[in-house]
Amino acid sequence: MNQIHPNITAILSYVDQVINTSKSREVILQNISKLLNNEISHYNWVGFYLVDDAGENLLLGPYVGASTDHIKIAFGKGLCGQVAISETSRIIQDVALEDNYLSCSSNVRSELVFPIMKNGKFVAELDIDSHALAPFTDQDTELLEAVCHKLEILF
Ligand code: SME
Repeated sequence: MNQIHPNITAILSYVDQVINTSKSREVILQNISKLLNNEISHYNWVGFYLVDDAGENLLLGPYVGASTDHIKIAFGKGLCGQVAISETSRIIQDVALEDNYLSCSSNVRSELVFPIMKNGKFVAELDIDSHALAPFTDQDTELLEAVCHKLEILF
């Protein structure tokens, strides 16, 4: 059964507060990870990958959840690397059905990846893992597109 989402407007207002009151991009991304992880019960790992200087790899940034081996992901590899190339979000309701997937933990059943664009250029992405099978709805998309849009100013 899907969880009932808390109010999206309220979460976005918290996001604004975090952006306006935190000292650095690192701290903001850490606090946004915590916020989303705390507010949405079906988010079990929330974190950011940032494009490296060469524009060829994603580097793990701030996150909340289990530690991961995937600290550097080449463009094209896994769900995160696919989003780096397509620059469009992926909503995976069942990771077991994916061929090009990098597993962080056997507990993860579903995953969301949303790109962060700055002036039309792909700069980072928001990655979320869930232990639930097929938990995502249009509300996740609405929330996370808005969050990623707000984070553009950090890059
Ligand atoms: N599952 C991702 C790797 C990142 S972890 O989930 C934190 C992927 O397939 O790219």
